[in-house]
Amino acid sequence: MFSLTRRRLNRGMTTNENNTASATTDTPTLVLGGTGKTGRRVAERLTALGRSVRIGSRTAAVPFDWTDRATWQPALDGIDSVYISYQPDIAAPGGAEEVGAFAELAAAAGVRHLVLLSGRGEPEAQDAEARVRAAGTFWTVVRASFFAQNFDEGEFLGPVLSGEVALPVGAVGEPFIDVDDIADVAVAALTEDGHAGQVYEVTGPRLLTFADAIAEIARASGRDITFVQVPLEAYTAVLTEYGVPAEVIDLLAFLFGEVLDGRNAHVSDGVQRALGRAPRDFSDYANEAAARGIWKV
Ligand SMILES: NC(=O)c1ccc[n+]([C@@H]2O[C@H](COP(=O)([O-])OP(=O)(O)OC[C@H]3O[C@@H](n4cnc5c(N)ncnc54)[C@H](OP(=O)(O)O)[C@@H]3O)[C@@H](O)[C@H]2O)c1
Repeated sequence: MFSLTRRRLNRGMTTNENNTASATTDTPTLVLGGTGKTGRRVAERLTALGRSVRIGSRTAAVPFDWTDRATWQPALDGIDSVYISYQPDIAAPGGAEEVGAFAELAAAAGVRHLVLLSGRGEPEAQDAEARVRAAGTFWTVVRASFFAQNFDEGEFLGPVLSGEVALPVGAVGEPFIDVDDIADVAVAALTEDGHAGQVYEVTGPRLLTFADAIAEIARASGRDITFVQVPLEAYTAVLTEYGVPAEVIDLLAFLFGEVLDGRNAHVSDGVQRALGRAPRDFSDYANEAAARGIWKV
């Protein structure tokens, strides 16, 4: 704690009785994955607030690559706080160790606050959280459910456009979270007092099955889109046939074969606790995405 206290003094920080902290200077925030689904939104919000932002990605002005540790220190130079979204997936083998090593380096570099994007019901993700919490900085965990935007900005856009979404998942309920809510929570944690030391488990306001979600998208877009449950083995075989890398297939098999087994079939109050408002509903997400024309063919 000595080094943390010294950093606090050096950076002119304020603390409140909840042992939370905010910076009084505008040293930049490093937004990892800053052009991705959540990171782009975090960066946009910080910029709109007049905060200085450094994007952390392989194509950024100061390149950052999770697979090349030599890039980590330059990206951290002069940084006040970091939004951490890990690639390829926080539950990927070795992900927790990488995130932990990065958090330790950030602490040694004088970073004040780490905000980690994590996943629900994944032991590997909770291991990464523990390593961030132990690094010696202020920290906030944003532990998210399955993203709604996977259907228009992620892996499931192609199947939705094709008119048939075939996945190895049954009638399990998932409270899809809108990534705009994730970004709002992360930015609150990065810019306001009161969020250090918090684990915000963020979900949407209601459970939907994947079939429900596809039905909502079909309704909103006015298209005929069907959902089909397929066996896990058939699903991974097709992915292999299409040349999807083995590690990606392993991750999807873990997600659909293990994580979507009902363990996460409940809503959580993280958005309400962090922001004092309800999370956005999947219908609103679907209506807004459809209005943009993203699901038109
Ligand atoms: N999808 C879900 O439903 C869900 C749910 C809970 C948690 N999560 C977690 O969310 C995280 C992903 O967040 P996201 O969806 O916002 O990200 P994303 O959209 O997948 O992010 C892509 C971003 O990552 C950068 N990137 C890709 N490979 C990189 C590498 N090797 N090193 C550094 N940057 C790299 C990309 O930029 P460049 O191409 O320029 O490098 C881009 O900025 C994962 O850790 C996942 O486990 C996801």
